[in-house]
Amino acid sequence: MIVNRISSLIANPQDTLKHQAAVAALECITPKLTTKSIVGVGTGSTTNFFIDELANVRHLFDAAVSSSEASAERLKNHGITVINLNAAPAVDVYVDGADEVNRQRQLIKGGGAALTREKIVASAADEFICIVDESKVVDTLGRYPLPVEVIPMARSLVARGLVQLGGTPIWREGVVTDNGNWILDVHEFMVADPLAMESSINNLAGVVCNGLFAHDAADVVLVAARGGIETF
Ligand code: A5P
Repeated sequence: MIVNRISSLIANPQDTLKHQAAVAALECITPKLTTKSIVGVGTGSTTNFFIDELANVRHLFDAAVSSSEASAERLKNHGITVINLNAAPAVDVYVDGADEVNRQRQLIKGGGAALTREKIVASAADEFICIVDESKVVDTLGRYPLPVEVIPMARSLVARGLVQLGGTPIWREGVVTDNGNWILDVHEFMVADPLAMESSINNLAGVVCNGLFAHDAADVVLVAARGGIETF
């Protein structure tokens, strides 16, 4: 099978698992695709594997909505039509990776700085399928630094607010998001109540979005582990 051949060509074991998660997502969505379907596509290395697989079924759906310029470029390079979210009557399914996932299907995202558009497309989609390798599954979110997108003039103000909430924010210097904003990564921030913390951070003036996906948790998580695919 082509899929097995591609997997065997991926040298890094974690990349092999990311690829397997991407294949599992494709198998999950393919039976539901119609020529009117719009597929939402996330950002990151795991999603890149999904985009490459999605190219094999591009004749089965109408178009994609992308969460980043980088993913849009990759989709277009595969001959997949990319449309603006405003032009999409609905988004049938959204597929994306994550930096951390708990068993409640709540996530930390934004390691690639695309969190705001990711949250928008995830929220617009009828179904959100998250694809990860086993290293991303945790009991409590927060070991991975939580990304927060901020309006540049509010960086210090938001950073002080994040300290008050118990975290240690560090400016991801040199990174500008697709929306022209900056990223603060909040370290040392174990999140006991993701729903409440997502809201508290959003309430800080100057915050555009934060990488906790608790209110818009995934509907399905596909975890690629050495023993096979786990779904929860
Ligand atoms: C992009 O901003 C992120 O939300 C990614 O989805 C997340 O960082 C996972 O990326 P990888 O698939 O590269 O680990």
